[in-house]
Amino acid sequence: MKIAVLPGDGIGPEIIAAAVSVLKALGPKFDLEFAPVGGAAYDLAGHPLPPSTLALAQSAAAILFGAVGDWKYDILAREFRPEQAILGLRKHLGLFANFRPAICYAELTAASSLKPEIIGGLDILIVRELNGDIYFGAPRGIRESSNPLFLGAREGFDTMHYSEPEVERIGRIAFEAARKRNKKVCSVDKANVLETSQLWRDVMTRLSQDYSDVELSHMYVDNAAMQLVKAPKAFDVVVTGNLFGDILSDEAAMLTGSIGMLPSASLDKNNKGLYEPSHGSAPDIAGKNIANPLATILSAAMMLRYSLGLPTEADRVEQAVQTVLSQGYRTVDIYTPGTQQLGTREMGEAVVKALS
Ligand code: IPM
Ligand code: MG
Repeated sequence: MKIAVLPGDGIGPEIIAAAVSVLKALGPKFDLEFAPVGGAAYDLAGHPLPPSTLALAQSAAAILFGAVGDWKYDILAREFRPEQAILGLRKHLGLFANFRPAICYAELTAASSLKPEIIGGLDILIVRELNGDIYFGAPRGIRESSNPLFLGAREGFDTMHYSEPEVERIGRIAFEAARKRNKKVCSVDKANVLETSQLWRDVMTRLSQDYSDVELSHMYVDNAAMQLVKAPKAFDVVVTGNLFGDILSDEAAMLTGSIGMLPSASLDKNNKGLYEPSHGSAPDIAGKNIANPLATILSAAMMLRYSLGLPTEADRVEQAVQTVLSQGYRTVDIYTPGTQQLGTREMGEAVVKALS
């Protein structure tokens, strides 16, 4: 079982090291092959996604990804910026289905900025489309405006689009996921303004006829942003496009106490996947041994379950995370008085210990 391990930038190497130590402590022997990605790859090879890294990702059964990005690369032309590595991997590998579960562990309700009664027991799943939308739409660029009011001024433009089959395939993923949960799908769009969203809504409505056991609702994205903090537990599965999903998944993450707890899976049509924490590279805390490795460890658990066919090992890892939380171990982002603060490495070690 070949796993491509791509640590990346910022806290990436530290959180990946913790997740790798957990994988190594499990029974099965994994073939872990490391490669540079993001700014680290740019420094080494002149490109955020070098051909050798892409080839490794393509040949592996799954990809464990840390994080990419650092302000020092903001001056580069867009094609060389670290973010292009993750966007490129998603696109080249056809990873269109992004699962971002937001679960509030009982032990962490106090770490959230929301009241315990609002978030206690929260368990929602954001299904975000990852290959389309304004992220990849053409044309895009910066040009001279032809608007008579602003004639000659520089103007930026991007294109939002979704084709019916793209909406349908992510819709099916969401309905199938809801079937295994509480049988509710909320499709989020901006159909009161955008044509792309109107088509999205039409397709979701049509699709729902194939899933009569699942309740479909529609919500505008601005309202969804509000409902997520007002009554998040009313949601089960939320399905949405790339841009709205990017924003709402960060919001949902914070409901759970810390974005440092949230894993994610990005799958292709054969369940091959890339697994990464939902948070970013956090360059401000890189190298300080304070980042929370649990999102990455939980991402590795998702990898065991979805791409490697090892549900028992996945359960063990998730149970071990639950154990360290009940033991009162916390990284600084989820620390509350009365608990014990650990560094990144020490938290990884605590999870390894809890495995046995
Ligand atoms: C995410 C990130 C990425 C995105 C960035 C790093 C390109 O924010 O995975 O949510 O916008 O998709
Ligand atoms: Mg994001």
